[in-house]
Amino acid sequence: MNITSVTSVLFSPTGTSRKVAMAVADGCGYHNSCVVDATYNTPSDMCYKEHELVVVAVPVYGGKVAPLALQRLDAMRGDNTPIVLIVVYGNRAYEEAVAQLDVFVRSRGFVTVAAAAFVGEHSYSTARYPIAVGRPDAADLADARAWGRDIAAKLARIESTQSIDVASLKEPRNPLFSKLRFILFVLKQRRKKSVAKPMVVVDADKCKLCGKCVKLCPTGAIATGDYLHTDTSRCIKCCACVKGCPAKARTLDTPYAPVLSQCFKDRKSPTTIL
Ligand SMILES: Cc1cc2nc3c(=O)[nH]c(=O)nc-3n(C[C@H](O)[C@H](O)[C@H](O)COP(=O)(O)O)c2cc1C
Repeated sequence: MNITSVTSVLFSPTGTSRKVAMAVADGCGYHNSCVVDATYNTPSDMCYKEHELVVVAVPVYGGKVAPLALQRLDAMRGDNTPIVLIVVYGNRAYEEAVAQLDVFVRSRGFVTVAAAAFVGEHSYSTARYPIAVGRPDAADLADARAWGRDIAAKLARIESTQSIDVASLKEPRNPLFSKLRFILFVLKQRRKKSVAKPMVVVDADKCKLCGKCVKLCPTGAIATGDYLHTDTSRCIKCCACVKGCPAKARTLDTPYAPVLSQCFKDRKSPTTIL
């Protein structure tokens, strides 16, 4: 196949999906490359032809593709266009996300030629409760680039797009004890009468009122001038404002961070198929 360009289409509030997509696209080595970032708005033109390669990268929320990512990418259209699927998850599990993304793109005219799950630092990770800190790291990004090279080599070899079966992507297993401990914790949380839902809190003493959080929020949950308040009806708990606050005034108050940190310490490697 004579591929002429690669377009990275992404949704990435804390930037880990973006890093993986860029490394894969870089590894592909096509001269023409561009990025369509759907983190802050719905891109206007997302139609692609058969000779263009698309790399789509999205985060995993609750074992599925982040719902807002699918909303923002709803207008994506392919014309038998080869597509590379990437889900990025916080070292717990990606569960249905790859299969869900595959159905999503196929119904829009794309042909899945490669798929992967990479690990990114968990959005809930903090200094006290670290979860996959610094991922994707240099080793992950080297893997991503090498995989990109393999994808380009495969596409150069074949005559026409052939879809792969994403079910053959093997999810890394969690140790049974950790898995059970996490499931029991979630069930216990759900049974509680007043469930402590994750929410962003702001330390008024630390906040410098710089307004960076307004720019970082993908959903407009923080209004200009009202930096100490986050609209919970809009907030998707992506932690873009938490991780990007220069004064470290914002934190996500969540009961899940300690248990995620405890249960999912073991490093998981990226899994890829093509
Ligand atoms: C609301 C929410 C739910 C999440 N659910 C999962 C999950 O089910 N499994 C997992 O391993 N990581 C989960 N994560 C972590 C993200 O998938 C991970 O941090 C990812 O790297 C974020 O991507 P981004 O940097 O592109 O925003 C979740 C994060 C958030 C904010």
